Amino acid sequence: MSCMDCSGDGSGGGVGEVLVSREAIARRVTELGREITAAYAGRELTIVAVLTGSLVFLADLIRNIPGRVRICPVFVSSYPGASTAPAGRPRLGPMPELPAGCDVLIVDDILDTGQTLAVLIDHCRRQAGSVRTCVLLSKTRHRKQNRKISVAVEADFVGFDIGEEFVVGYGLDYDNLYRNLPDIRVLLPRRNA
Ligand code: PRP
Repeated sequence: MSCMDCSGDGSGGGVGEVLVSREAIARRVTELGREITAAYAGRELTIVAVLTGSLVFLADLIRNIPGRVRICPVFVSSYPGASTAPAGRPRLGPMPELPAGCDVLIVDDILDTGQTLAVLIDHCRRQAGSVRTCVLLSKTRHRKQNRKISVAVEADFVGFDIGEEFVVGYGLDYDNLYRNLPDIRVLLPRRNA
């Protein structure tokens, strides 16, 4: 196990073991690209990319989807600042104009309570002909154990199902840090929190 204390004060709060390696991510993203390509065979695809978290996943995924792909970014935030728990309803930036009747694929890094995807699905359905979702990670068990804050939403394309640990890397952050790490790692608890 490799571990980095990035707190700057020696209290922990850094990153711990690799949960999903860069090699496993690369293999699965290639497969997801194939699955999505087959599902939309010959049709133009409009990807609503949920930023900031999806940026690394998005960059790799779209290069595994040949054909006509339109990217519509949207900024959504549920975990403000140094927080590992969602702070109520997600805050949405300006929503993109979607071509009427288009095939939308919402791409996000992680599906936790489902609140983010639920809000975006609702919005996209007003303009699109079809709406599906793709996430690299899904916390299915955590969602089912937290029904008070979770909403009933499942993604159509899922990279990996993970447990309830807070993870960073490959676009995922804690307080806007660690998005640059190439593997997905577990965040260490702060010792004096
Ligand atoms: C994270 C993640 C998803 C959302 C998932 O975003 O990127 O968009 O939370 O959580 P939910 O299923 O409980 O709604 P975050 O607020 O950390 O913003 P970010 O994209 O800037 O990392």
